[in-house]
Amino acid sequence: MRIMVIGGTSGIGLALAAHYAARGAELALCGRDTGRLAGHPLARDPRVRTYALDIGERDAVERAVRDFGAGGIDLLVVTAGQYADAAGLAADPAQGPALVSTNVAGLVHAFEAAGALMRAQGRGQLVAVASIAGLLRDYPGGSLYAASKAAAIAVCAAYRKALAPFGVAVTVLVPGYVDTARLRELNGGDAGGKPFLVSEAAAVARMADAIDRRVERCVFPRRLHLLVRVFNLLPLRLRRLRRK
Ligand SMILES: NC(=O)c1ccc[n+]([C@@H]2O[C@H](COP(=O)([O-])OP(=O)(O)OC[C@H]3O[C@@H](n4cnc5c(N)ncnc54)[C@H](OP(=O)(O)O)[C@@H]3O)[C@@H](O)[C@H]2O)c1
Repeated sequence: MRIMVIGGTSGIGLALAAHYAARGAELALCGRDTGRLAGHPLARDPRVRTYALDIGERDAVERAVRDFGAGGIDLLVVTAGQYADAAGLAADPAQGPALVSTNVAGLVHAFEAAGALMRAQGRGQLVAVASIAGLLRDYPGGSLYAASKAAAIAVCAAYRKALAPFGVAVTVLVPGYVDTARLRELNGGDAGGKPFLVSEAAAVARMADAIDRRVERCVFPRRLHLLVRVFNLLPLRLRRLRRK
């Protein structure tokens, strides 16, 4: 298997890359931080190539896909993603554009480039990691993030329909809280208070299984999904009581 992971240098992307490396895959790992790429735990594996790129830069994504894709690509996984809440947006005007460029435009860049290659191959699978936040009807503090993840789910649906006739599958992974270093950092060092928190290992097992089975949409954990669906049914005034 030849697999490209954009966002494969930390958290969910790194854990997924390790999962596939252990199964003998040839890997392309992408991220912006050159130090993290150089010190990557898989960097010495001869079957692993690294590409320093910002997924928001379309030309850079195309170059990497063309280079690694010269040998074919079976699977592209996009885990690259950024989070910003209302306080972050107020403090730093660069956060909003960077979030949209990564979570939405970047995903389209990656799907366009790898989708064209897979279409020519007549086979392949595109995968994106969205978020259960993208299914929430009202998430004022993180509304730009939630909207970007709702957009990611929609991007997957659009490319699934467009590429199905060419033998290319599209899977969207929609996790709740996953106990990654980044989530801990966002929560003062401990994400233990997050509802239905899933370990990185359990999340990767669930995601890899959904990818293997080429499911269209995998939302987990089930209990958080149920809670979101109930919450979405509440009148707006009741939903807003949640954060008072
Ligand atoms: N952890 C959770 O609870 C959770 C829940 C739901 C959904 N998700 C989603 O899952 C994905 C991974 O989350 P995580 O917790 O594993 O976060 P993470 O550890 O911060 O991983 C993000 C990865 O994406 C890369 N990245 C970020 N911006 C990029 C850009 N513009 N271009 C290229 N690469 C970029 C990062 O590397 P560089 O910084 O070096 O570029 C890193 O490898 C994200 O899309 C996140 O929204 C996470």
